[in-house]
Amino acid sequence: MSDTPAKRLFIKTYGCQMNVYDSARMADVLAPLGYAPAESPADADMVILNTCHIREKAAEKVFSDLGRVRAYRSERAAAGKDMIIAVAGCVAQAEGAEIMARAPFVDIVLGPQTYHRLPEMVARAARARDEKKGDGKAGAKSAGILDTEFPVEPKFDHLPAPRAEGPAAFLSIQEGCDKFCTFCVVPYTRGAEYSRPVADILREAKSLVESGAREITLLGQNVNAYHGAGPAGEVWGLGRLARALAGIEGLSRIRYTTSHPRDMDDDLMAAHRDVPALMPFLHLPVQSGSDKILEAMNRGHTADDYRRIIATLREYRPDMALSSDFIVGYPGESDKDFEATMDLVREVTFAQAFSFKYSARAGTPAAVLKTQIPEDVKDARLYALQDLLLEQQRAFNQASVGRTFDVLLTHAGRHPGQLVGKSPYLQAVHVMADPKYIGTVARLKVVSLEPNSLGAVWADASKSTIKTA
Ligand code: SAH
Ligand code: SF4
Ligand code: F3S
Repeated sequence: MSDTPAKRLFIKTYGCQMNVYDSARMADVLAPLGYAPAESPADADMVILNTCHIREKAAEKVFSDLGRVRAYRSERAAAGKDMIIAVAGCVAQAEGAEIMARAPFVDIVLGPQTYHRLPEMVARAARARDEKKGDGKAGAKSAGILDTEFPVEPKFDHLPAPRAEGPAAFLSIQEGCDKFCTFCVVPYTRGAEYSRPVADILREAKSLVESGAREITLLGQNVNAYHGAGPAGEVWGLGRLARALAGIEGLSRIRYTTSHPRDMDDDLMAAHRDVPALMPFLHLPVQSGSDKILEAMNRGHTADDYRRIIATLREYRPDMALSSDFIVGYPGESDKDFEATMDLVREVTFAQAFSFKYSARAGTPAAVLKTQIPEDVKDARLYALQDLLLEQQRAFNQASVGRTFDVLLTHAGRHPGQLVGKSPYLQAVHVMADPKYIGTVARLKVVSLEPNSLGAVWADASKSTIKTA
């Protein structure tokens, strides 16, 4: 054992699964510097806020959280301990200079494309602090490292091979977006679309499986726009990649998120018919059911295009469960446009969905439109839509009661003796089971519907750990 006390790292993650993946990778690049996970920011030598810029509320939260982290740092300083504060992610990318100005105590501001350089940034920040201490100016304005460029060489080439932290792992295969929907900041915060080469992805997937992953969720801002270089330089789409991944021994399940309707090609849809490991669940954001609004959003497809995709998917895979994202109150959205969204939802029926009020984002084309919708109208539409979506979600879950599913058991539940896992349709399922079954796909019968999960028993009663008197 080393004599140096381990340093503690606390990362708070906001936003999408890409950020969850990035946070794990930031922890990976800092591990060789001696950083191990901290329980809370209060006992961390370094705190990273990995931020999201997608809606106004998400971005504003960062500044209030920074205030709290600063208070922890002062408490630590009183005890003679230090703390490095970093802001990463999409707010950092979009508002790096503003963060430095509004929160000058922040040591490091880094974008989503530069975190492979964190060790170097941390060393520079620590040096700057030591120099200030030497000056007797500890706690004064930090030297402030800002690294938000989009490097030519993708960060993936500089990251260590990740290890799975449980049976369900994420693997980022595509990043950035060139679609420029008129409401969205992602093309500005994440940069141009980039697909990782096939060989890198297969290597990373194998290493995840070797370290215990049974399910891999492929990630990308538009993951089905994937067009990576194959081994002979030819271009692979996501369908072909999914087929190759399914050949990895020990990998039982493949998922991918988030998809764009425009990139839902026939090969990928057919993969849902041909590849049993590809789970029958798809998050396919539609945003609106009105063609006028879809056009104004620059989505590049109509509501009927969406209906046709769903019909084809259900033809290939009749039990396909669907999820989506919706925006209500986009500038110029009339009652009729909103009703078209409600109609589309009624027709498609979703197993789950996310819905948001339109939030004007500086720098995006929709933010300057004169036809902004009043807040109370947005509220009323959001409530109506969420009522309908929740009703569909409840009906979907209710229909699962009595059915037998393959459930990947991923971790211990809140109650002693309980394990929790995921159904093929991404529902949380819990069962009384021996912990040795974590990481296995269990055949379970769903017996109850609870507020946020399904209760199940073993289809094969001999595996049950419940002792009856
Ligand atoms: N690439 C994905 C979505 C990524 S952003 C796609 O195109 O479908 C995740 C979701 O946030 C979007 O689907 C959208 O519903 C929501 N969103 C993005 N910008 C928004 C804004 N300005 N206001 C409200 N919701 C927004
Ligand atoms: Fe944003 Fe549109 Fe790109 Fe999705 S496709 S990330 S909504 S610009
Ligand atoms: Fe948010 Fe950036 Fe993801 S803006 S949704 S963290 S890509």
